[in-house]
Amino acid sequence: MKVTMTVNGRPMSAETEGRTLLSSFLRDGLGLTGTHVGCDTTQCGACTVHVDGEPVKSCTVLAQDVAGKSVTTTIEGMANKDGSLSVIQQAFQDHHGLQCGFCTPGMVMISAALLNEKPNPTEEEVRHYLKGNICRCTGYHNIVKAVMAAAGADSRKLAAE
Ligand code: FES
Ligand code: FES
Repeated sequence: MKVTMTVNGRPMSAETEGRTLLSSFLRDGLGLTGTHVGCDTTQCGACTVHVDGEPVKSCTVLAQDVAGKSVTTTIEGMANKDGSLSVIQQAFQDHHGLQCGFCTPGMVMISAALLNEKPNPTEEEVRHYLKGNICRCTGYHNIVKAVMAAAGADSRKLAAE
């Protein structure tokens, strides 16, 4: 079947099977490999994207169920229009919020969702909101620092949506 959805502001389509997960559709159907797949069982959060503005683990939903919706955004849609890093991406870089980088797309997406919802979270709230995203490298401390540093920024600048 042909599935069409808006991804990072652009209509995109690909032929796929009914059983195809959104994560596979984005990576294999559309070539957007910035969305990582760590577990495929809804545990690690590496595959997090925004669907109609809400954070979703893309390995938990079928691509056909997202047909006609807006995937805003995948990590490929996070940079500013001039190609520079968005506030949240820059904060991860500045505060060493990544090491191997495998969890980073999901961490950036879940952090952006938090700051869209709650622009000035406490550290405890950041840790609580990110608890569905696993990082095997950083010990989380610098990730939390990065999110706190990005907090308070104009939400329109968190992602180029
Ligand atoms: Fe989706 Fe791990 S790959 S939660
Ligand atoms: Fe390696 Fe998070 S930076 S898994």
